[in-house]
Amino acid sequence: MDGNGRWAKKRLLPRFAGHQQGMESVRKVVKKCIEDGVEVLTLFAFSSENWKRPAEEVGLLMKLFVGALDREVRKLHKNGVSLRIVGDITAFPDELQQRIVAAEKMTADNRRLYLNIAANYGGRWDIVEATKKLAYRVKHGSLGVEEITSELLAQELVMADLPEPDLFIRTGGEERISNFLLWQLAYCELYFTQQLWPEFDESSLQQAIDSFGSRQRRFGMTGEQVEDSAS
Ligand code: IPE
Ligand code: MG
Repeated sequence: MDGNGRWAKKRLLPRFAGHQQGMESVRKVVKKCIEDGVEVLTLFAFSSENWKRPAEEVGLLMKLFVGALDREVRKLHKNGVSLRIVGDITAFPDELQQRIVAAEKMTADNRRLYLNIAANYGGRWDIVEATKKLAYRVKHGSLGVEEITSELLAQELVMADLPEPDLFIRTGGEERISNFLLWQLAYCELYFTQQLWPEFDESSLQQAIDSFGSRQRRFGMTGEQVEDSAS
């Protein structure tokens, strides 16, 4: 979700106004995903590198998260959304951590949409944590080094129970991954748009989905193989 700051700057508003407006885009996108039967939506809200921003902006972002959890969780729960915060939440203020735990608990049994918010998340962090878990098992003798496979490592990642993403969308014109889901993006379709996140709405999401629908996913096979298996 990139481009909040630039959206605000264009309007001579403080950066935070862009983050607030970005929340509206989150609402629109979540609503459309629920209506359209999208199974999993993962939003990159705050990266492990975003701590480098001015303390004031970080503080305001934390407040925005807390406020959003207070206001939205009940509604999400009513709509069958299972909410999960992925990332190292131990770095967040206590009041935020408590709200996260409570929200996840309340919505844990919902199945209509899995909504993951990546916060203090980094793709490399995810892979390193998974590696540590395997290393402990090797150390304690329950796993041999030769037994380590990509499937086994994938089982230790934070969203191991959910399918890998099909479509990655980055707003704001930058064409890079910026340490988002590194492992999980191996075969993901990438979609970049110039639109700033606060401008991103239902029709923007539909455009991204339409672009996805027009692509042939080959997973290393030839186009002919894919066509044969589809017919
Ligand atoms: C993304 O918008 C939101 C967060 C990282 C929280 P930015 O704040 O990165 O917006 P730009 O890139 O400065 O426009
Ligand atoms: Mg940015």
